[in-house]
Order: sequence, then structure tokens, then C-alpha cells
Amino acid sequence: MDNNMTKLRERREKVLEGGGKARIDKHHASGKLTARERITALLDAESFVELDAFVEHRCTAFGMESVEAPGEGVVCGYGTIDGRLIYVFAQDFTVVGGSLGEMHAKKICKVLDLALKVGAPVIGINDSGGARIQEGVDALAGYGNIFYRNTIASGVIPQISVIMGPCAGGAVYSPALTDFIFMVDQTSNMFITGPQVIKAVTGEDVSAEKLGGAYTHNTVSGVAHFVYPNEQETIAGIRRLVSFLPLNNLDAPPVVATSDDINRICTDLDTFMPESPNRAYDMKLVIQAVVDDNDFFEVQPLYAQNMITGFARIGGKSIGILANQPKVMAGCLDINASDKASRFISICDSFNIPILNFVDVPGFLPGTNQEFGGIIRHGAKMLYAYSEATVPKITLVVRKAYGGSYLAMCSKELGADIVLAWPMAEIAVMGSDGAANIIFRKDIESADDPVETRKQKIAEYQEKFSNPYQAAARGFVDDVIYPSQTRQRIASALNMLESKSETRPAKKHGNFPV
Ligand code: HXC
Repeated sequence: MDNNMTKLRERREKVLEGGGKARIDKHHASGKLTARERITALLDAESFVELDAFVEHRCTAFGMESVEAPGEGVVCGYGTIDGRLIYVFAQDFTVVGGSLGEMHAKKICKVLDLALKVGAPVIGINDSGGARIQEGVDALAGYGNIFYRNTIASGVIPQISVIMGPCAGGAVYSPALTDFIFMVDQTSNMFITGPQVIKAVTGEDVSAEKLGGAYTHNTVSGVAHFVYPNEQETIAGIRRLVSFLPLNNLDAPPVVATSDDINRICTDLDTFMPESPNRAYDMKLVIQAVVDDNDFFEVQPLYAQNMITGFARIGGKSIGILANQPKVMAGCLDINASDKASRFISICDSFNIPILNFVDVPGFLPGTNQEFGGIIRHGAKMLYAYSEATVPKITLVVRKAYGGSYLAMCSKELGADIVLAWPMAEIAVMGSDGAANIIFRKDIESADDPVETRKQKIAEYQEKFSNPYQAAARGFVDDVIYPSQTRQRIASALNMLESKSETRPAKKHGNFPV
């Protein structure tokens, strides 16, 4: 073979070996795939094209001049998922712990720049000991360059972060700036300061898993959106998420063929709602009954469960769904639910995904925790995100819609294009019990039989206001429908709104409440 060809083959083989057999064996033994195996599993077969395989670091401090780092500890390139272009980078823990130095960062930046110019999603797989300590400020600058690009690309191309190992210190802020974070149970963690630093500074004893493991970030902190038990299932989850998203903000989400008739009548929904307005039920059953093939892909299923967010399709087209969950905290809005919802609204609006809201909300959660925690500014995020969103917005009031929370779940005034209500909907300032106690207090107190009078007054209020017809009489509700017609009517509204075009005044950017 020609000498040049031999050299190329040898060099490429060296890069493909990563950190070498011993380190790869150790990596596999800890339940992890290598960076290349992850990319192979993620992308369509044979579609990966590598970029920058021959990049080398140029650090000479602390003996680094003799350290070989094949691929610079990160595998970068592009390929396809379901035939659609995707950019990818995967840090290689077997090479200097996947640590990020100047040239490692340059490789990631090149992929981000290309993805932004071309308009295609980026999936970044993080598995790294953080800033390459020997490179000092060059490594920090590398992170800064990545954060800047994550921010500029935000809202232009979908950015998905996958944590498949350590992601510590400032390194966590690249994933945090992206749209979605996937974590793997037991083998991934994210924290700003690790257990040892915490022990030294505050004296607290905490394991890495408890501090920043997948369940912590999926249930408590809300930093992550998905957790799966292993890497293969995580990769399947990423491919599923990608199937709902457009390539960029000027593209439409892909349409997926379905045999589910858009005019399907959801017969069970006519008798679904419990008799008592105070009885809980599982809103996910309503969502599943309505969407194509009962297939709902929940986002952040374990966090702020009083608010449901996720993707589905109707007539084969992606929709973003937000719904109150009466099974959890009676579906009240609180700080975490508001954060979860507003970020999801913003993602749907960025990527041309119509928003569908299922409303059964008794109000904002009362309490000093909520007030001291700033529910005012957190709740404002929902009002802001819904008002700012220009994608088609459809709201269905299935039961309660009280007070400020009625507005916060995308009422007509916040720009809902179509508002539908089930006949048992109660759209009012507050529930009839509370309302009667306030406005009929004097009548009740002075009555011969206060208990009976109170009952009558509650019934009076209920008759007058606890229904959808007052709102329909003012045009705040476009129609009151049979629950069984829900899929048909939503599909029809989505079709009708398909060419919706709405603009906002030109400005540098709004001042999103945080
Ligand atoms: C250089 C590193 C490294 C790093 C790991 N390695 N992290 N080299 N810089 N940050 C090297 C190790 O020396 C080792 O090299 C190999 O990678 C594998 O690491 P091990 O420690 O053997 O692996 P393990 O036991 O699995 O432990 C993984 C780890 C640990 C928990 C991630 O390596 C660790 O604590 N690393 C340092 C973490 C850290 O403090 N990073 C800086 C964070 S601050 P050999 O040759 O022995 O195989 C930060 C600031 C960013 O990132 C700021 C951005 C704004």
C-alpha cells in the first residue's frame, strides 16, 4: 500500500482506539458505552461522518507535552436520525478523563457553528472530568466559547444534552443552556461543587448520587428532563424526542403517518369526569384518549407533577401539551409547575409546535413557602410565555378554571386562538364554596338557619357561575363541546390554525421574568 495511505490508516486507527483497551475495559465495566459506541447507537446506521479526528492539544504544562490524547477526548461530527441531519459531539472519558481543554472545546464549537449555519439540531453527550486542569485559563475560555454558542443557538436549533458520566463545576452550564437534558440512572451526575468541596465548606455529608444524580435532577431540582435506567434506553428516548422537533426555527416539525382517524369519537370521555368536582382523576388518561394512537411522550414526568408537559401528535403533526394534574396537589399551580410550564411553552413556540392546554386548575397554591419563594415572579413566567407565544394556541377547559390560574393556563386574553370547554367546566373567580362565604357572609350570618342558607347561596352561585356558559356568553369560550368530540374539535382547530401568522412589535428582546 502507498505510504501515505498506510500513514492515514495508522493515524485513524490510533484515534479510533481512544484511551486504549485497558481504559475502555474499565469504562465498559462501569456500565458505560464508549463515546463512539454511543454515537453509533444514536445515529442511523453508517450515517456518522467524523470531523476533526486528528486535532491535538498543544499544552506543554505538567508533562502534557508527552500525553497523547487521541481525538482530543471528544468525538465530533454529523449524521442522521430517521434520515434527518443531526450534529453530535461525545466526550470520550477514556482520553484524559474526557477533560475539556482549548482544542477539545474548539472541536465542540466547530460543530455548534456548523449546526447553527446549516440549521440542524445538536446532541452533546457529556462524560468529562471538567476543565483540563493542566490547561488553566485556556480550558476556562473553552467553556466560555461553548456557553456563548449555546446561547446564540438557543431558539434557532434544538440543542439536546445527554449526561452519561460526570459533569461537574462550570461544565454543567452548557447543558443548562440547552433545551433538554437526559440523564442515566446511577452513572451520571451534575453538580457545581462536588461532595468533597461541600464537606469542606459546609460540613454536609452527601453522596455524588444524592447530590447530583439522575433522580435528584429529575425529581427535586428540575434541572433534567428525562431519566432512563441505562444508556441504550436513554438513546432510544433521545431519538423519540427528536422525532417531534423540527430541524430549526424556520422548519416545521416532521409529520408522521398515522391510521388514527382525526374524527375518532372518544366515547369514554362523556362519562369520564367524576360526579363530585372535588374528586381527583388522572389527566393523562384524557390526554392519551385524545392524541394519535394514545401516544403521549411526557417531558419532565417526575418533576412538578401537578403540571403535565409533553409532546404528542394529532393528525400526524406534533403538538406540545400542557395540562393540570388533579391527582397531584389538586392540580394547583406553584413555583415549580410555573417554571416547568413556562420553559416548555417557550420551547414549543421557538420550534413552531402548536400548544394545546388541558385545564382543570383550582388556583395558585396558597402558603408562605410559595409567597416567600416568589410565586409572583414565577407565576408571571407563565403569563409571559403564553402571551409571547405566536404558535397556534388551543385551550380546553375540562373542569375548574378559577381566578388568576384560569388566565395563567392560556385564556383567550393571553392569546388562545380557540378556547373550548366541556359542559362541566367551571370558569369563575373562585370555587362556589369560597365565593358564597365572601359575598353572602352577611346573609348567612343573619339567617335563622345559617347552614341551610349557606347551602342555598353556594347552589345559587354554582348555578350562576360554576359553568362554562357565562364565559361562552362573553366569547371567552368559543364553544362548549361534548367530551367525546374533543379529538375531532382539536384536530379541526389545528387544521384551521395551520397558516396562523402573528407578529409582535420589533424589539431587542423582552424582559422575561426570572
Ligand atoms: C485533567 C483529568 C481531569 C481533569 C480527570 N482526569 N479529570 N485530567 N483534568 N479535569 C484524568 C485523570 O487524571 C485520569 O488520568 C483520567 O482522567 C481518569 O480519571 P480518574 O480520576 O481515574 O477517573 P474516576 O476515578 O472515574 O474519577 C472521575 C472524576 C475524577 C470524579 C471525574 O477524575 C475527578 O474528580 N476529576 C476532577 C474533577 C474536577 O475537579 N474538575 C475540574 C472541575 S472545575 P489517568 O492518566 O490516570 O488515566 C471545572 C471548571 C469549569 O470544570 C469552569 C467552566 C466555567
